[in-house]
Amino acid sequence: MRTSTKSIVHAAQDGGYAVGAFNIFDGLTLRAVVRAAGEKRSPAIVQVSARTAKALGPRFLARMFEELAAGSDVPLSLHLDHCPDLELTRAVIDAGWSSVLFDASHLELAEAAEQTARVVSWAHPNGVDVESEIENIVGVEDGVGSDALAHSYADEELVRVARETGVDLLAPHLGTAHGQYKLPPVLLPQRVSHLRRLTDLPIVLHGGTGLKPEEFRSFISAGVSKINVSTAVKHAYLDAMEESLGSAREAGRREPLPILGEVERRVADTVASFLELFGSAGRAGGER
Ligand code: 13P
Repeated sequence: MRTSTKSIVHAAQDGGYAVGAFNIFDGLTLRAVVRAAGEKRSPAIVQVSARTAKALGPRFLARMFEELAAGSDVPLSLHLDHCPDLELTRAVIDAGWSSVLFDASHLELAEAAEQTARVVSWAHPNGVDVESEIENIVGVEDGVGSDALAHSYADEELVRVARETGVDLLAPHLGTAHGQYKLPPVLLPQRVSHLRRLTDLPIVLHGGTGLKPEEFRSFISAGVSKINVSTAVKHAYLDAMEESLGSAREAGRREPLPILGEVERRVADTVASFLELFGSAGRAGGER
């Protein structure tokens, strides 16, 4: 069932667990996320990169999501991941998605705040929630971002800007990075604890791929309530596709649907293991 992103993350915050936001890039991966959430009785956020939103179109993605969410009895929302593009953000809001991450991390503070406030003024009258990023999360995700930390602010300043712009979720820099880690990251769960003392805004952890179970647990007990996972979904899809194609070729089978079925199962299993890890399995139903 479709629920707002805000209610899903607030329930996670109240319940002391985190909800996974999984980047999908086609109908198969979208179905896999919805399937895993249903099987695990877990809320989940279906997340889409700006590149995928452009490639498939905001309306087409909204229709596919609506259809699958209507057939599911666990809370689901549709979220636009890192989008620095005002025009695309507007198109996604107009297409009726649940929420958007307006990525202003490449802008100087005054401009970042002004553009974020503008997005909030479009989103809220349409019932769309806004995640804010004014510090950049290191790493390039689907063509958006940078490998260097460009902007970082004091916690108090971050919270002040979030309050002034009226956003619903906050994505601070927490030492994680997008993609696979080349070196062990210096993680900042203590920053989450400090931010949670300053604000009730749900805190988002980016760069979920490659973190250890105990690292997730320390972020969740510090108060993170949404965790983004993209690279692990892509890898599960590609690995399963390679293996299924390989065995079909060896057996002389030339039917796409059984191969796609195997890939969907493998992606759903990967998503399900994150839902277990984040503590959201069995928690469907606590939303307000
Ligand atoms: P990973 O690709 O490291 O899982 O990060 C996902 C993410 O943070 C999307 O915003």
